[in-house]
Amino acid sequence: MIKVAPSILSADPANLMKDVEQVQGADYLHVDVMDGSFVPNLSFGLNTVKGLAQDCDIKLDVHLMIQNPENYVEQFAQAGASIIGVHVESTQHIARAIQLIKQAGAQAEVVVNPGTPLTELEELLPEVDQVLIMSVNPGFGGQKFLESSISKVKRLSALRQARGLEFDIEIDGGISDQNVKQVYDAGVDVAVAGSYIFNAPDYTKQVQTLKDLTK
Ligand code: DX5
Ligand code: ZN
Repeated sequence: MIKVAPSILSADPANLMKDVEQVQGADYLHVDVMDGSFVPNLSFGLNTVKGLAQDCDIKLDVHLMIQNPENYVEQFAQAGASIIGVHVESTQHIARAIQLIKQAGAQAEVVVNPGTPLTELEELLPEVDQVLIMSVNPGFGGQKFLESSISKVKRLSALRQARGLEFDIEIDGGISDQNVKQVYDAGVDVAVAGSYIFNAPDYTKQVQTLKDLTK
């Protein structure tokens, strides 16, 4: 069964805690951090992560869409992030960023944009706990799933098996009941879903549907 990480980018920012309390059965809460430079949008920051970590029991999966994330990963770990994701495109020193995440006691995740080939992260695979394949161009919720991500996940999953590695594969962008089975069969362990969950009346039911479709 697939793990589900609701993305609070699509939750109601004025009632964030209320929305979060209404999602039951999720495995992680996905928190998008944007700096208006790496991606053309702004979103949550350190204070939101700190607040959520204090008030919720669920593990926080923090997706950093910021330039030079190595300058901030320690602070995000201290704020209570369980998993911290850094984009290969966002720094000259991706290996250092991953090292710093682990030193700070969090789980390390490397992220690739749709236009970035897997060769960019091959060397890092033994070092990470999770790989995030972006299935939309990052920055906004509610975009259309890019079909090319399926083949990318399949190739990554084959690489994981060939090398005997154990990282989880996560996918982010455009996930719904229409494609969750397909990405799960391709090798995805964790599905991020924003608009599919928070644009529906019953968030918990949406999470359960994604899980039921991958039983
Ligand atoms: C996009 C974010 C996603 C976003 C996904 O840059 O990284 O986490 O919230 O939203 P949906 O599921 O609506 O595509
Ligand atoms: Zn995200």
